[in-house]
Amino acid sequence: MCGIVGYIGHRDALPILLNGLKRLEYRGYDSAGVAVHDGQNLHVFKKKGKVKDLENELKDKKIKGNIGIGHTRWATHGEPNDVNAHPHVSQNGLFVIIHNGIIENYKQLRNFLKDKGYQFKSETDTEVLVNLIEYMYLESETDAEMAVRLALSEVIGAYAIVVLAINEPEKLIAARKSSPLVIGIGKGEFFLASDATPIVEYTDQVVYLDNNNMAILKEDEFILKNLANERLNPIIQKIEFDLVSIEKNGYDHFMLKEIFEQPVAIQDTMRGRVTSDASMIRLGGITSVLKKILAAKRFVIVGCGTSWHAGLVGEYLLENLARIPVEVEYGSEFRYRNPIINSDDIVIAISQSGETADTLAAVELAKKNNATVLGICNVVGSSIARETDAGVYTHAGPEIGVASTKAFTAQVTVLTMLSLMLSQEKGTLPYSSFKALVNELQQIPDKISKVLEQNDYIKELAYLYKDARNFLYLGRGYLYPVALEGALKLKEISYIHAEGYPAAEMKHGPIALIDENMPVVFLATKDQIYDKVLSNIEEVKSRGGRVIAIVTEGDDTVIRMVDHVIEVPPVSEALAPLVTVVPLQLLAYYAAVLRGNNVDQPRNLAKSVTVE
Ligand code: AGP
Ligand code: GLU
Repeated sequence: MCGIVGYIGHRDALPILLNGLKRLEYRGYDSAGVAVHDGQNLHVFKKKGKVKDLENELKDKKIKGNIGIGHTRWATHGEPNDVNAHPHVSQNGLFVIIHNGIIENYKQLRNFLKDKGYQFKSETDTEVLVNLIEYMYLESETDAEMAVRLALSEVIGAYAIVVLAINEPEKLIAARKSSPLVIGIGKGEFFLASDATPIVEYTDQVVYLDNNNMAILKEDEFILKNLANERLNPIIQKIEFDLVSIEKNGYDHFMLKEIFEQPVAIQDTMRGRVTSDASMIRLGGITSVLKKILAAKRFVIVGCGTSWHAGLVGEYLLENLARIPVEVEYGSEFRYRNPIINSDDIVIAISQSGETADTLAAVELAKKNNATVLGICNVVGSSIARETDAGVYTHAGPEIGVASTKAFTAQVTVLTMLSLMLSQEKGTLPYSSFKALVNELQQIPDKISKVLEQNDYIKELAYLYKDARNFLYLGRGYLYPVALEGALKLKEISYIHAEGYPAAEMKHGPIALIDENMPVVFLATKDQIYDKVLSNIEEVKSRGGRVIAIVTEGDDTVIRMVDHVIEVPPVSEALAPLVTVVPLQLLAYYAAVLRGNNVDQPRNLAKSVTVE
């Protein structure tokens, strides 16, 4: 979420901005825009699609100016189109802004501004912020810097912003909270960007803004402050000129970067939906159909691949917490088997890309049969998001690695929030249990961070098993879909054959495969059926199988039975998929890397499967 660039100095700003936006393209985006001030006037151009489209539009225009901002948007609020693209200009034309992130309380702020006479052209949270800045500026009769500070003091959420004030066109004002922003320091010029990629060709001197920092940049002056208006000393760092590693933020692959982004991605998924005191969950995107949801006799979840696995976790969650009967279907099967769909069914389509042809066809079929269709998509404005009656975006940020990782945990987070919310509407879970689970959900990002600390250890394990030809993944209950997901991750990037199975089903067939050459990954965290899983482990060990077990921290039973354990922090069973899947992602990742495979673009696979 996504790309920011800015320039102030003595050069022509536009080519620098366009070049910078191209450098940031790897982050994934759906529209692009620039604003340049030529000393007299502001010129704003924005367009859905690629930076190239924007560049074509600008080809014959002679826009000269030494100060400007540019943006590649990855929509979170409002579909990708020309109007929603950034930069956004305030109602009276006094401020222009680019923004990465999410303003959580944008609805309240928008209502407040509407009462003050503001009207909105776009559906974005960003336009709310730029109008709030303008409102503060006019209302408090203050300068631009103070207006930005006052507006940000009202904002809840995540942002990296760059603002240009028309009445003070000799400066750029930048600020950040939870979204990255880097300032490159040249001679009589400054460059701003979401990461150093667009900056390295101009300078190797950079300042990384910290949370709640504000920078006020003039051609020859750099003032760093915090939001409380106290001066800070900028710490200038030297960057390495390694573009590729910067794009991946220092990680070797996008997949690894995305695995490590999960704590933040899950926070973004919950942002503005879970109250900080854990007392309430609000999913704004489905309020319009809540009555139908509550009246439904059953839910049908459709998806493919990893999204289908998230659906299976959803089945356990919705049935256990909200007592709603759920069926989970592959999009490809559902569409061709003349399924029974009733008009009081709720069909939930899960898709990272929102473009998967099989899932989309299932959505169309469900609509034709008058079911209410919800979407859980990551890409805003995608086909599935548009086709469905209502939905909840996962807000996990762009996922570039073909193997889905953070999208899965974000989908499961949405399904958890949905189940918990419905449990209260339907009175199926005591409020105290609801609150305890919501509290725990808020701690999941930290727990995932703890799992990620075991990265090096998991790499060693992957080294031991990288030459295996087959793998079995076993889990029960909530962890059965995680076993399926672990196996899918391994096969799609390492090309090692792997099967996921419900642990107890093993004795009905797969047990015949067990010998000393068959590594078995067990999901064996402490839950209601922990003892049963122990018996399943015994069955494998007594046949010479080699076992890696994912266990709850401090478990001293399993460790004595198996070859290796990977510990995860204690967590309620309903939330266990979110933490237990992470070591399996890492295991698959390192097995693939150690086998020399192209992790981000595995053979024969595409990121979004838009054909049947
Ligand atoms: C997962 O790692 C995959 N590459 C694949 O199974 C994917 O989940 C599936 O194609 C569905 O994609 P979607 O979520 O974009 O609909
Ligand atoms: N929330 C903003 C929007 O939807 C910014 C998204 C981004 O980070 O690109 O426009």
